[in-house]
Formats: sequence, C-alpha cells, structure tokens
Amino acid sequence: MVLDALIRIKNEMDSTLTFRRSCREGICGSCAMNIDGINTLACLCRITDESRGATKIYPLPHTYVVKDLVPDLTQFYKQYRSIKPYLQRKDPPTGKEVPQSIADRKKLDGLYECILCACCSTSCPSYWWNSAEYLGPAVLMQSYRWLADSRDQFKEERKQQLENEMSLYRCHTIMNCARTCPKGLNPGLAIAQIKKEMAFNG
Ligand code: SF4
Ligand code: SF4
Ligand code: FES
Repeated sequence: MVLDALIRIKNEMDSTLTFRRSCREGICGSCAMNIDGINTLACLCRITDESRGATKIYPLPHTYVVKDLVPDLTQFYKQYRSIKPYLQRKDPPTGKEVPQSIADRKKLDGLYECILCACCSTSCPSYWWNSAEYLGPAVLMQSYRWLADSRDQFKEERKQQLENEMSLYRCHTIMNCARTCPKGLNPGLAIAQIKKEMAFNG
C-alpha cells in the first residue's frame, strides 16, 4: 500500500517526512491524502504497478497544510461539532434503552459507516470556494445520519439550522464526493435526501 511506501521513506530515507496514520486498515480516517489525483486513504491504496513510474502524493486539496501531508482540519471538525452529532431527546430519560425497529435501524446504513476522513469534502468544488459557511458533504451526511434516526427528537431544530443559503444549498450535485469516498459511501445522495425532507416535510 502507499502507506507502506511512506513509512519506508520515513524510516530509511527522510525521517522528517510528516503524515498522519494510525489504524492502517481504513478505519481511523487519518491517512487521507491525494494520490495520483484522487483523494483516498493511503493505507487502502495499492501500489499496483511499480514500473509505472513516480506516484504523485499531495495533502488533501484546498486545505491549509500543517506540514508535508498533514492538512489542518480545524474548520472541518468545527463544522462537525456544529451539527450536534449525537442523539438528542426531549422525553426525559427513563434509564432504559430507546428502542428502534429493524426497519428504522436500516435507514442508517450507508451513513453511520463514515470515518470522517474528509476525502469527500476536500474534493467538492463548492466546499473549496465556500468552506467558511458551506458544511460540505461529510458533515452534511452526518447531519442526515441524525435526521434519519428514528430516536432523535430534535429534527425540526436540525433542519432549522440548515435553512439558510450557505450551510446546505451550496451543494450543486456535482457528485465528486461519491466518486472519491474510499468507503464507497454516497454523501451527495444524503444531501439530496436532506433537501427533499426540507422541501416536503417543512
Ligand atoms: S454532490 Fe454536493 S457535496 Fe458532493 S461534490 Fe457535489 S457539490 Fe459537493
Ligand atoms: S463520506 Fe466517505 S469520503 Fe466522506 S468523510 Fe465519510 S468516509 Fe470519508
Ligand atoms: S491509517 Fe487509518 S485509515 Fe489509513
């Protein structure tokens, strides 16, 4: 994998080379970078043909760079925090689990698997130009993950927060996000679902 090559370069050639990695199995999301023009995870990206010549590796595009392959994701995490990515209830706690039907649980498939690697958001032209205000595909997909959760009781407040020109509606369905996601998820579709809910369910 490309991550193995980077580790080898760091160990044997240039110890100053700086990149993030932790799990080396596509779960932590920390080794996201642009490899030969595609945002992906270095630990899942095979070195397919060594005779092909040099591989070009850059940090995730349109991010401030801390050093070498390490992007500054401060704004990304700030935006994630802003959507309140946790269950919110109005009913007082009963001390028991809040049940969910199998059918309702299924609605979260394709959403909860996101590892917040930021490959999609940093491939999105709308996010490149408006990242101060547009939430971007990764954060919006997590917003939908909580909107779609039958146990959450703050749906109206969640939708209200997106009801402005910039947070959601900067998505123009270009779909770079779905093309690049290393986990095979489709943030563009989740965004379309939010827009549908906003249009038809107030
Ligand atoms: S579908 Fe929306 S979020 Fe995805 S890349 Fe396009 S503009 Fe960005
Ligand atoms: S949707 Fe995919 S590309 Fe985007 S942050 Fe989640 S795992 Fe990464
Ligand atoms: S090292 Fe964790 S996703 Fe690559």
